Amino acid sequence: MISHLAKLKNIKAVQLIMQIEILGNTESISKQHGALIIETAMATVRVAVYSPTIIRVCISKKQKAVDASFAVIQLPQGELKYTETADNIEVLTSALKLIVSKNPLRFSFFTADGKPLSSDDKRFGITLDGDKVMNYRELHDDEKFIGLGEKTGNLNRRGMHYVNWNTDAAEHTIKDDPLYKTIPFYMGLHGSVCYGLFFDNHHKSYFDFGASTDEQFTWFGADGGDMNYYFFGGQSVAEIIKDYTWLTGRMEMPPLWSLGYQQCRWSYMSAEEVLNTAQKFRERKIPADAIYCDIDYMDNFKIFTWNKQNFPDPKGMIDELKAINFKLVTIVDPGIKIEEGYKEYDEGVANGYFATYPNGELYTGSVWAGRSHFPDFFNEEVREWWGSAFTALTDVGVEGFWNDMNEPAAWGQNIPPIVKFGERYMPEVRNAYGMQMARATRAGTKKLLKNKRPFILTRAAYAGTQRNSAIWTGDNSASDEHMLYGQRLVNSLGLGGFSFIGVDIGGFMGNPTPELMVRWNSLGVYTPMFRNHAAQGMCMREPWEWGEENENIIRKDIEQRYKLLPYIYSGFYQSTQTGMPLGRTLAIDHTCDENVYDERFQNQSMFGDAILVAPVVSTEYTADVYLPDGEWYRFGTDDYFEGGQVVNVPAPLINLPVFIKGGAIIPLQSLIQSTADEGDGVLYIHVWNGATTNEFVYYEDDGISYNYEKGEYYKRIIRFDPQDRAIAFSVVEGNFSSKYQFLQVVLHGFGNEEVLNSIDNVNSPITVNY
Ligand code: GLC
Repeated sequence: MISHLAKLKNIKAVQLIMQIEILGNTESISKQHGALIIETAMATVRVAVYSPTIIRVCISKKQKAVDASFAVIQLPQGELKYTETADNIEVLTSALKLIVSKNPLRFSFFTADGKPLSSDDKRFGITLDGDKVMNYRELHDDEKFIGLGEKTGNLNRRGMHYVNWNTDAAEHTIKDDPLYKTIPFYMGLHGSVCYGLFFDNHHKSYFDFGASTDEQFTWFGADGGDMNYYFFGGQSVAEIIKDYTWLTGRMEMPPLWSLGYQQCRWSYMSAEEVLNTAQKFRERKIPADAIYCDIDYMDNFKIFTWNKQNFPDPKGMIDELKAINFKLVTIVDPGIKIEEGYKEYDEGVANGYFATYPNGELYTGSVWAGRSHFPDFFNEEVREWWGSAFTALTDVGVEGFWNDMNEPAAWGQNIPPIVKFGERYMPEVRNAYGMQMARATRAGTKKLLKNKRPFILTRAAYAGTQRNSAIWTGDNSASDEHMLYGQRLVNSLGLGGFSFIGVDIGGFMGNPTPELMVRWNSLGVYTPMFRNHAAQGMCMREPWEWGEENENIIRKDIEQRYKLLPYIYSGFYQSTQTGMPLGRTLAIDHTCDENVYDERFQNQSMFGDAILVAPVVSTEYTADVYLPDGEWYRFGTDDYFEGGQVVNVPAPLINLPVFIKGGAIIPLQSLIQSTADEGDGVLYIHVWNGATTNEFVYYEDDGISYNYEKGEYYKRIIRFDPQDRAIAFSVVEGNFSSKYQFLQVVLHGFGNEEVLNSIDNVNSPITVNY
C-alpha cells in the first residue's frame, strides 16, 4: 500500500516534470515563409535550413518568438524539404538529416547518409523551468568538445561546466569562469564525425560537457530567451568554422600597422613619456608600429577628452609620432562621468542616451571616472552619437581605438538586473553590451577616418564581434601558466570565428622574470596580435628594460615578426575569406589525432598554414614537442623530423621551438623598422621540401585603405610542385602593384640550400624550376 504521503510526493514529482517539459507532443505541422513550424501545447518550433550544412532550430514559448540576432547576418538560403510519417518528421538536405520525433518532441541530427551526429537526450530533451530554456543531449562515449571561445580549462572541454556572463575578471586565475566574452559555439567530435552547435542566446548561459552527469548527457541552456540554436553538419572542423563565420560574419582586412609590434602600458603618463618611449624603439633599432595611451591621457577619466596638463598638444604629439612611423591607440571606456558641462554627459542626459532604472532614473555605477552613466549601445541613435564623438581623437590623428570595461564593468560588478537599456533589462543584454560598443566604435571611426581602416580592440564580446573588432584576453598575470593558457584561449577563440587576438605579453598583473619576458615575447611573434602591456605599478616592460642580452633576443624576435609580415598579412586575408583563424589549434587539421588533446601538447598550435609553434615555460630549455603526421623542419636550422612522433628538442631562450611543415611556402621580407618603411622591394619566397604539392594564396594591398574592396589588391597563388620540380606563380589577380619588385626563391631541405636568382615580379605567370 502506498502511503498518503508517498502518493502526494509522486503527484508533486509528476507536476514538476510537467512544468519543466515545455515541448510536449506535436499538435500541428505547417510550412511558413520557408520554415517548418511545429506547434505543441506550450511552444512554437521553427526549423529553417540556412544552407545544406546549417539547420536552425528555434523553440519559443507561445507568443514569445523574437527573431532578432546580434550575431547572425544571414537569412535561410537552403531549401526546406521534409517528409512526414506517423511518428517522425524528416528534414533532409544534401549534407544533413534532422529527424524530429513527434511524441515526445525530440531532435536528432545525422549526416545525410545516416551517421549519428548529435541528438536530444531521449528522456529529457528540451525543457523549460520558468524563463529558463535547457537542452539535454546525448553524450557519446568517445565524444570530445572543443571551442566555446574564451574559456579556461583544457582544449578538450569534456567534463567541464561553463557559464557565459561577461565579467571584468580582474586578477583571474587560469581556472576562473566566466571571463570577458560570450561565444556560445562549440564543436562535438566522436568516431569519425564532427558537428558544431551555436546557441544564439545572450542571456546568462550554461554549457555542461558531461560534468556531474555520470556520463549520462551533456546540456546547455540559458536563464531566458528562446532555445535558439544553429546546428552545423560540415564534416571537418575547417568547414564548420567556414560555415559559422559565414553565418556570423568575418573580420575585415586589418590595417597593416596593427600587425606590427604594439607597445602598451597603463599608462604612459605624459606626451613626453609617449614620445620618448617611441623614440627609443627607433634609437635602439627595435621594430614597432603602435604605442598606446591608457586611461591617464584623459582629463579626469572623461571619455573623449585630453588631460591638458600632461597632454597639452595631442596633435603635436601624434604628428611627432607619425614622423617616426608610430600610430597611437587610445583607450575608451563606456562609463561617462557625471559632471555638468562635460559635453558627452550633457548630451547623453539631454537625449536620454543612458541606461536607466525602470522608473526612468538614470543608472549610476562607479568606474575609473567615479560616478558614471552608461550609454545604451543597443539604440542606433546612441551608437551614432558615440561614433561621432570620436572626432576628439580622430581630429588629432588617432587611428586605433581600444574599447575596455565593456562587460560592462562597474566597481562591485553587480549591476542590478533592473537596469534597462531601452526596453531590455540587463540580464538579457549584458553579454552583448561590449559587442554593441565595438560596433558603434567601428562604424563611427570608419566614417571619420574616411577611407582609412581603423584599428578597434575590445575586451568584452559576443558571437559575431569578429566583424567589428580585434580582441584581447584581458587582465592575465605574469606567470608561465598564464602564458600557456593564453595560447589555449587564442586557439579556442580561433575556433569561434576570431582571428585577430592578442594576450598581454609579459602578463598584465605581477612582474615577469627576464626569462619569462623573453619567452613570452618570442611566443608573441606567433600570436595574431602582438602587444606588450602591463598594469599600473608593475615594472616597466619595454624591450630595453631586461638587460642587453635579453634586449638582443627580444629585438631578434620582433625582427622575425616583421620579416614574417607578408605571410601574416596573407593569413589574415584567409581569415577574411574563410574564417580560418591565424592561430589554430592542431585539432583543426588533426581532429582525430589523440595526441593533440594530450595536456602536454594541447598548447601547441599552427600559426597560419605552415608554422607550428610549441610554447615552452621560461624555466625549461628543452621541450617535448608532438609533431603530427607529415614532414617537419625546425625553423632556423632546417633540421628534419618525421611527423607522428614526440621529439625532444633544444629550446633555449633564444630559440622557441617553431617548426615548418614540409612543402610549406612562406613569403618573407627583409627587415624593416615599421610597416611604413618601404623596404628593399624583394619578396623572398621560402619553400621547404615535401612529398606533396602545396599552394599558398599570397595577398597584398596598400594595408591602409578600403581600396581593396574596389579591386586594388594583388593576389596570386604560389604553387610548389615536387614532381615537376617547380615553384609556380599564377597570374596576378587585382589592380594593385606589389611593393616588391623582385621575387627571390629560397629553398630549404632540398640537399643544396639554395637561393635562386632574383626575378622580376611581373603579373603574368612565372615558373621557377630547381
Ligand atoms: C583594465 C584593462 C587593462 C587596462 C586597465 C586600465 O584593467 O583590462 O588592460 O590597462 O583597465 O585602463
